[in-house]
Amino acid sequence: MHATTYLADYRPFPFALERVSLRFRLAPEATRVQAELHLTPREAGAALVLDGEELKLIALAIDGADLKPADYLLTETGLTIHPAALPEGAFTLTTEVEIAPALNTALEGLYMSNGMYCTQCEAEGFRKITFYPDRPDVMARFHVRIESDLPVLLSNGNPVAQGAGFAEWDDPWPKPAYLFALVAGDLVATSGSFTTMSGREVALNIWVRPGDEDRCGFALGALQRSMGWDERTYGREYDLHIFNIVAVDDFNMGAMENKGLNIFNSKLVLASPETATDLDYERIEAVIAHEYFHNWTGNRITCRDWFQLCLKEGLTVFRDQSFTADMRLGAVKRIEDVITLRGRQFREDAGPLSHPPRPDHYREINNFYTATVYEKGAEVVGMLKTLVGPEGYRAALDLYFARHDGQACTIEDWIKVFEDSSGRDLTQFKRWYTDAGTPHLKVAERFENGTYTLDFTQETAATPGQAEKPARLIPIAVGLLGPNGDEVVPTQVLEMTEARQSFTFEGLGARPVPSILRGFSAPVVLERETSPAEQAFLLAHDSDPFNRWEAGRALALSTLCAMAQGGAPGGEYLDAVGRLIADETAEPAFRALCLRLPGEDEVAQALASAGAVPDPDAIHAARRKLMETLANRHEAALAATYAACAVPGPYTPDAAPSGLRSLRLACLAPLSAIDGGARAQALFDSATNMTESLGALNQLIALGKAEGPLASFRARWENNRLVMDKWFMAQAALTPPAAAVARAEALAADPLFDWKNPNRFRSLLGGLSANHAGFHRADGAGYRFYADWLIRLDPMNPQTAARMSTAFETWARYDTARQALMRGELTRIAAQPGLSRDLSEMTARLLG
Ligand code: PHE
Ligand code: ZN
Repeated sequence: MHATTYLADYRPFPFALERVSLRFRLAPEATRVQAELHLTPREAGAALVLDGEELKLIALAIDGADLKPADYLLTETGLTIHPAALPEGAFTLTTEVEIAPALNTALEGLYMSNGMYCTQCEAEGFRKITFYPDRPDVMARFHVRIESDLPVLLSNGNPVAQGAGFAEWDDPWPKPAYLFALVAGDLVATSGSFTTMSGREVALNIWVRPGDEDRCGFALGALQRSMGWDERTYGREYDLHIFNIVAVDDFNMGAMENKGLNIFNSKLVLASPETATDLDYERIEAVIAHEYFHNWTGNRITCRDWFQLCLKEGLTVFRDQSFTADMRLGAVKRIEDVITLRGRQFREDAGPLSHPPRPDHYREINNFYTATVYEKGAEVVGMLKTLVGPEGYRAALDLYFARHDGQACTIEDWIKVFEDSSGRDLTQFKRWYTDAGTPHLKVAERFENGTYTLDFTQETAATPGQAEKPARLIPIAVGLLGPNGDEVVPTQVLEMTEARQSFTFEGLGARPVPSILRGFSAPVVLERETSPAEQAFLLAHDSDPFNRWEAGRALALSTLCAMAQGGAPGGEYLDAVGRLIADETAEPAFRALCLRLPGEDEVAQALASAGAVPDPDAIHAARRKLMETLANRHEAALAATYAACAVPGPYTPDAAPSGLRSLRLACLAPLSAIDGGARAQALFDSATNMTESLGALNQLIALGKAEGPLASFRARWENNRLVMDKWFMAQAALTPPAAAVARAEALAADPLFDWKNPNRFRSLLGGLSANHAGFHRADGAGYRFYADWLIRLDPMNPQTAARMSTAFETWARYDTARQALMRGELTRIAAQPGLSRDLSEMTARLLG
């Protein structure tokens, strides 16, 4: 069993490390790394413990004198230099190691992707490059020399020297090792510049492989927009002369905020109208912004230890969400974010992997880059902003930057900044960081003599390792509507601090209809006895766009839950949808969101949380049936909207035309259920952009009528890895459930299934697990196929294998037969000899 790390065991590093000099002599199987660490002891008699994994030690010296074997201890995880071998004052440690980037399939540390060298050091990858105190609270200034014949040699900071076969970079800002980066390759740049608010010119470059340079323009513009927004909104200016972004094809995550040298999964950089969808464009802009924003929230102010990960991630997600809300339609962005939150974080929080945004122990930190740390972390920042108001929030952030610039901080530091700037006591609020689980908020109503009362109770179920759940501070934004739909009480924020608490509204002429949790003011499950008629009323009248959408969503969800249990679709839902399709006053993107039905996994989660056992086949059938019913009932309106939303002129990814395309595709889904796929086929044949081409293909796949289109799509795009990822994903995710596993098996045998590439692996396996009824096939074939591939991937790339194992996190929702099948697969995985620390932690937690 691998050792557990506890928050309570934190101790500062007993040496100061101010400067580091690195020299890389690159070679695929024998790269030499020389490191010079300038250290000063801070505690008498402390040993020098450096992390290091998979390093071949070549040389080791202090102040120029080689160490003797008795002076140090070398293990699988690092190097310990005995106190007796250390000088009393400042000294210089030099090491030389050899590593093999070409053999690094885990994509952590220094590795190769299509002939280029690149690095990924967060969280603990730097220890695979050289011996080092690989922890975020050790912040040093780096000087880097790279020697290689490759034409482009990049590292962090500013370039200081270059010549034939070498380049040197110097980063003036102290940083932890996880922000180190190096890139070397045959790359081409798309370049631009940005003039900062104090008038400094910054050179911007997006580096890609030759041939990809015509798909970088959008990313460059997104970077410029991000830099301007962070100045205007947070007063944050960029702090180097150059900012480089590099796109790589093999990457475990989305992107990485290395100081001055962000490294991106190529799918989050490259875009052209023919190859990227509207959603791809939106994500590229959001992730470019996210990584750029880390320069202040993550890099200039970093985390003391990895338990504080949400300090940088929750805040930076909140910042990128606000940015997208400003660039596009804020109300639509909020709804999209809540859909993601519920689909990923509520799901995680309802199962065996539930953990607080700030966990207090882990075995493998890579397993904590989760929806809870990121998305719930962002919700918690949003609640703080709601509690102190926009000006209070800006004041708190100004104080945060002033007080903590250059430091490695904790959640306590962060909360203290809000307390000091607002004068509030946030002790109870802090539970959002330390407690796991999604609170359930129940509400009942009373109306007497003009006084309207809301009685709330909050409850959070026990989660692994946490039985007691004291009440949290929940900000509940509420508005009241009169019987004619007018707002009689505008939005106010109620602060619930007790387990049960009532709030009253006086002087009302008639019983109002409440609009509760406006804007989704807290990440809770709201439970309220309501009627379909009242939901339809809110869908028609609520002035809060989030709650307007939410009313329709709740209606759709309860309709689907009822149908999955043998009921028929209710008239209220069908009528309400009819009014929405025709509502020209609402934004197209908003109508599209209202028209789109909840996914099958969401229906399963809703059934499970209501105490029922979800039947995946029944849910799938119910959703198809509702689609068909909707189309039959509203065919004319859907067809008219579908026709009216065709966007004339050349493609742009802006919010307005994207909104029209999304409404168009939202109409196409039900229409395809009754037109035999005619419209989808026509759209596929005529589409000139990937949004519509793929949107049409998706419908044809779900109908089982896509063989021809799939073949032509493949013939056109087989040399484009990112587009072929979509081809794999769409088939795995949307093939009708009975045929899904066979289709996934056929795809896995396709010569283009390069399973060592994380994007390709995720397309196929992630696609299958998104195919709810296909994955959960009663005979367990989906589970077996999936587990076989995790077992195969684990020795190559444990991080991605562990991350993908979350497909099994919902096992407890289902019937005992499926539970046994899923637990059986998890047990089989857990029993594999040599299983990685990553995946063994995951299987142990999943099995509970
Ligand atoms: N820190 C990166 C981000 O949020 C995510 C990441 C983590 C990337 C670990 C790679 C490895 O932007
Ligand atoms: Zn991040």
